[in-house]
Amino acid sequence: MSEVYSTIEKNKNRLNLDPNQAIWLFGYGSIIFKVDFEYLEAKKAYLNGFERRFWMASEDHRGTPESPGRVLTLQERRQAKCFGMAYRIDHKVLDALDLREQNGYLRYLKSVSFADGSAHDALVYIGDKTTRIYQEEHDVKTLAELIFNSVGPSGQNKDYVYELAQALRDLNEPDEYIFELEACLRKLEEIE
Ligand code: SIN
Repeated sequence: MSEVYSTIEKNKNRLNLDPNQAIWLFGYGSIIFKVDFEYLEAKKAYLNGFERRFWMASEDHRGTPESPGRVLTLQERRQAKCFGMAYRIDHKVLDALDLREQNGYLRYLKSVSFADGSAHDALVYIGDKTTRIYQEEHDVKTLAELIFNSVGPSGQNKDYVYELAQALRDLNEPDEYIFELEACLRKLEEIE
C-alpha cells in the first residue's frame, strides 16, 4: 500500500507560534462544517484575495493513496473574497489540526476580516503547490465525476461538497464555484 503524503514535519516549526497565546484559525473547507476541535470563540470571517478550488488530492480523508479524492485549497485572485469561519483556539489543539490537515497543507498566517470591520492574523491551512497532492483541474464536470466516485476514511467525497454548500447557505455566503459543483453532483445522482 502506498503512503499518505504528509506535511507534519514541514509544519512543526512553521510560523513559530507562541504556545502560551490563543490564536485565530480560519477555515474555508471542512473546517467550516466538521468542527472536531475545541475552540474559545467562533465567528464568520473572510479572507481577501483568495478563492476556493478543489485542487488538492485527498489520500487520507475523502480518498485513498491508490484512489485519491479531491478537497479544497485556496487560490490567489486579487478581487476575490473567501468567506469562512474563524475560531479562536488554544495552542494545544494544533497537533491534532496538523494531523488532520497533513495531506499537503502548509500553515500560513493571513489577515482575516470580521463583520464588525476588525481584522486579525489567523492560521490558515493552504495546499503546498510543490507536492504531488496539488493538482489543478479547471473543468468542474471532470472534478464532479472524480468526486462522485471517491470515498475515504472520512466518508464519501461528494458529502464534503454537499455539507460545505449547505454550511455556506446557512452562513448566507453563496459561492458560485461550490454551488456549480454541487449541481453537477446532483445531476450525477439522477443518472445513477
Ligand atoms: C479548511 O477547511 O480550512 C482547510 C481545508 C479542509 O480541511 O477541508
